[in-house]
Amino acid sequence: MKHRDIKDVIGDLSLVNSDITVCGWVRTARDSKNVAFIELNDGTTLKHIQIVIDKNSDIEYGNALRLGTSLKVEGKAVESRQGTIEINAEKITVLGECPLEYPLQKKRHTLEFLRTMPHLRTRTNTFNAVFRVRSVMADAIHRHFQSRNFIYVNTPLITASDCEGAGEMFQVTTIGYSDKYKNQDEYYQNDFFGCKTGLSVSGQLEGEVAATALGKIYTFGPSFRAENSNTPRHLAEFWHVEPEIAFAELPDVLEEAEDMIKFVIGEVLSKCPEEMKFFDAHFENGLIEKLETLISNEFGRVSYTEAIELLKKSGMEFRYPVEWGCDLQTEHERYIAETVFNKAVFVTDYPKAIKSFYMKQNDDGKTVAAADLLVPGVGEIIGGSEREADYDKLVAEMKARGMNLELYKDYLDLRKFGSVPHGGFGLGFERLLMYCTGVSNIRDVTLYPRTVGSIR
Ligand code: 4AD
Repeated sequence: MKHRDIKDVIGDLSLVNSDITVCGWVRTARDSKNVAFIELNDGTTLKHIQIVIDKNSDIEYGNALRLGTSLKVEGKAVESRQGTIEINAEKITVLGECPLEYPLQKKRHTLEFLRTMPHLRTRTNTFNAVFRVRSVMADAIHRHFQSRNFIYVNTPLITASDCEGAGEMFQVTTIGYSDKYKNQDEYYQNDFFGCKTGLSVSGQLEGEVAATALGKIYTFGPSFRAENSNTPRHLAEFWHVEPEIAFAELPDVLEEAEDMIKFVIGEVLSKCPEEMKFFDAHFENGLIEKLETLISNEFGRVSYTEAIELLKKSGMEFRYPVEWGCDLQTEHERYIAETVFNKAVFVTDYPKAIKSFYMKQNDDGKTVAAADLLVPGVGEIIGGSEREADYDKLVAEMKARGMNLELYKDYLDLRKFGSVPHGGFGLGFERLLMYCTGVSNIRDVTLYPRTVGSIR
């Protein structure tokens, strides 16, 4: 269907007096005695183009003024009073009628209401802006890594090992369990892959395989978590960016993470000015300034042990008591990121017992070379570490955790054959999107959110 994108037309005054065809959905319409006005949006920009219909002409426009109707409009481009292009309609074709029960009749609906109609909420300004920022952010991630010689690899989504060793995987099966199997082992042997499999919680272990040959790699794809976390920050299916770097120690990993976040946010600010103004006005006052400050300052760094001291000295009444060895809860993370630092901060060197088996053990025997990046408002957006590259230490740790070494033979081989210091991190793509847009619920930055008890 030959037509122009509204994004390319609306600001281009060189088009004045030329014939233009645009398509889109009616966002608002006004009717008066002699003229009717339609605000048309085609999704390419937040801006609506104004269509002017001279009611004394013989243009047929039927139900074209109804909200949600899809139209093709042919006409002459003219300059509007705001200095943009509007179109004096010469022919209007209704592509799809939209009856009055179309639910998006009001100017502003609550996000909760819009969540009940994921197939239509995409037509609102909020989701128009969210998905454009999401797309720009995804492109920026690829460009960032590609420009630094990272290779994009695709790790498997179906896996026989649980990367984090935490047993929170969705099972993948083609047969249901029944009494006809003597035991679980026999059931799994009869299943599609002949063993227990699930959806991957992280591409890291395979990412390490690639990095210890290709040097620097990144993955960017979905990860799945079957944890029962019904919070505004958790999805059962989220997009995960996981770089893995050979010949790197923890400080190198943190530097990469900081550079990536700053580049991506810088790109969003420069490529999506209209969308960012919208989020600043409607979701988080001061958002643009917050992001500009973030990218022009160094991220904070604090060890877990220091963080525990800060929390203890805070005089705050936390719901979860603070003791060295405890996992940091959201309330603790928020205090550190918002009250103590009021900026992005890496918390490093966590106790071994609360982190994954693969993290490099520090010389103190108690902590591992791990780091989480916390940001005000959202909390953790990155988790990463240097990996244990010493075969004996890794095996000892896995045995101590009762892990089945057979399942990790490939992984252990990497430590046998030319092992190198290496590390990486995982960025929750939707969490970064929340931070950049000020949208406070992860369900509202995802086309079809999958959360515990909810799928559509
Ligand atoms: O901290 P996590 O669990 O780390 C890993 O998966 C490592 N294997 C990463 C690595 O070193 N390659 O997850 C990394 C990030 C978190 O910081 C968070 O931003 C995001 O993934 N994340 C989630 N995002 C949305 N919903 C969930 N359920 C998430 N779980 C983790």
